[in-house]
Amino acid sequence: MCGIVGYIGQQQAAPIIINGLKRLEYRGYDSAGVCIVRSPELDIAKKAGRVVDLEANVDISLLTGTTGVGHTRWATHGIPNDVNAHPHTDASGRIALVHNGIIENYLTIKKKLVAAGYGFRSETDSEVLAVFIGMLYDTLGDLESAVRTALSEVEGTFGLVVVSTVEPDMIIAARRGSPLILGIGNDEFLVASDASAVIAHTRQVVYLHENEMAILTRTGFTTKTIANVETHSVIDEITFELDQLEKGGFPHFMLKEIYEQPMTFRDGYRGRLLIDEGNVRLGGLTSVVDKLRSAKRIIFTACGTSWHAGLVGEYLIEHLARIPVEVEYASEFRYRNPIITPDDVVIAISQSGETADTLAAIREARLRGATVLGMVNVVGSTIARETDAGVYLHAGPEIGVASTKAFTSQLCVLTQFALYLGRMRQLGLEEGKNIARALDAIPDQIHAILEKADVIEAIAKEYAGVSNILYLGRGVNFPAALEGALKLKEISYIHAEGYPAAEMKHGPIALIDENMPVVFIATKDESYDKILSNIQEVRARNGKVIAIASEGDDHISALASHVLTIPTTHPLLTPVLASIPLQLLAYYIAVERGCNVDMPRNLAKSVTVE
Ligand code: AGP
Ligand code: GLU
Repeated sequence: MCGIVGYIGQQQAAPIIINGLKRLEYRGYDSAGVCIVRSPELDIAKKAGRVVDLEANVDISLLTGTTGVGHTRWATHGIPNDVNAHPHTDASGRIALVHNGIIENYLTIKKKLVAAGYGFRSETDSEVLAVFIGMLYDTLGDLESAVRTALSEVEGTFGLVVVSTVEPDMIIAARRGSPLILGIGNDEFLVASDASAVIAHTRQVVYLHENEMAILTRTGFTTKTIANVETHSVIDEITFELDQLEKGGFPHFMLKEIYEQPMTFRDGYRGRLLIDEGNVRLGGLTSVVDKLRSAKRIIFTACGTSWHAGLVGEYLIEHLARIPVEVEYASEFRYRNPIITPDDVVIAISQSGETADTLAAIREARLRGATVLGMVNVVGSTIARETDAGVYLHAGPEIGVASTKAFTSQLCVLTQFALYLGRMRQLGLEEGKNIARALDAIPDQIHAILEKADVIEAIAKEYAGVSNILYLGRGVNFPAALEGALKLKEISYIHAEGYPAAEMKHGPIALIDENMPVVFIATKDESYDKILSNIQEVRARNGKVIAIASEGDDHISALASHVLTIPTTHPLLTPVLASIPLQLLAYYIAVERGCNVDMPRNLAKSVTVE
């Protein structure tokens, strides 16, 4: 949530910050703002809405200065308006900050500040922190000490960047619970929520750790803990290219990312798949092989789409490796006193690697002695760093707020993980080879589905006006139905629900009439006949059926209003292929309804608050 960019160097800061904010907008787009240090004053411009709205209202070229910060907000405290937009200043107007996260005890601090005579303009928790730092500065006379003292008193989470006229040649950054990285250039330094905002300037980055601060000047940087103990920072290299952050001719990032899937899926198993051995080589798990061999239970913990991937993982692992699997919403897991033993392997699945609930869940699991692994997309992200071992997804940067390619890459990695665990146990060579071959065929099969996108676009036009859609699937395709429904509701705002097909008769069937389309994942597998019966039940109530069916299935076209066929694969891999038409259906319906596909209302890509 929220994008932060700070710059200190030799160039004009404002355009660099604005361009960085545009890259980070997927993280939050309620408002945008910048503060440029023009000693002896701070120039602040902020506006509700997108970064382009800020640019339309403010002549950025008039904001001159070589030090500054910017912010795109995902509002938690106070509505998205100009006043609540960041940066916020202290009472004297000499210190400005941008903040990502939530100051949980802001009301207590605010009360004290009000009693001391301070006033507030916004409803945000962040302004309280700014005023608090200002008050401490007045007493301590040193900005760094003031920030440190304030941060030792606040509860909650922050990614924080402070600029001021009292230290015009300094930026102070600090993090607890919200990500921040430093971009290390030549006589210029950046601080940002993620690498996408700095890559145009430098590939050298330092990932700030929890409870760490950084002091940036025009000539260098130091890092220390908030408790003032010097820390040693390692410079890492950004692993992706700038053009991966561009739309590349597609109208939306989401469509680009849907079309990237033949490549991203292959990248997920390239160099890992050993077809002749019916196995995989997962280098990131070498250090925990013994733990995996003796694991008595696997627990996946994740949120949203990543949680759906975990559900597919459950089917995969229980089927191929016969290890009991549980899949937990991270937000529930962390608070329900879970029973964890050292024989458990807890796996966080996350695209961003920054999701606050998922991070808290693995910290809880580690505390209770479990081996903690990560299946994460963003290299160097907090979850990637806080897990004992893991497997990267290699999907490349995912910008569209609705996850697409990261989901199929999660399924790619989960299939390999299940295969790996299975081959350590009872899974035979031939079945191993079958899975490996099926996996290797997926990229071409995805490509073939994408070639038929126009059919899906036509169907989408027909259904763009509906108010509800039900998504049904059985077995391993049930999570694919959940994910299909989530995609639709996220970007088109049409109410959609996913259900196990057989559950329909236990309640949702009451909703079915001629206005209720039902999407069935009805591929030829062991539950095919049962699904056909479910389709009949919908038809008997005048419901319209859109079926995702296996290529060559002539029977189903007689039953369904529309049939979208997908190539035949190993039954356990059907969710990968079924997801492609469901992504396209959601996409085209949302476009038809005129929705902002890449930045759907109220959502943010990386949910770093509880
Ligand atoms: C995906 O379309 C969603 N926007 C959301 O559910 C997401 O999957 C969830 O917030 C988890 O994110 P993560 O994978 O980055 O942890
Ligand atoms: N809690 C702060 C606010 O509501 C920061 C939100 C953010 O991370 O964007 O303004």
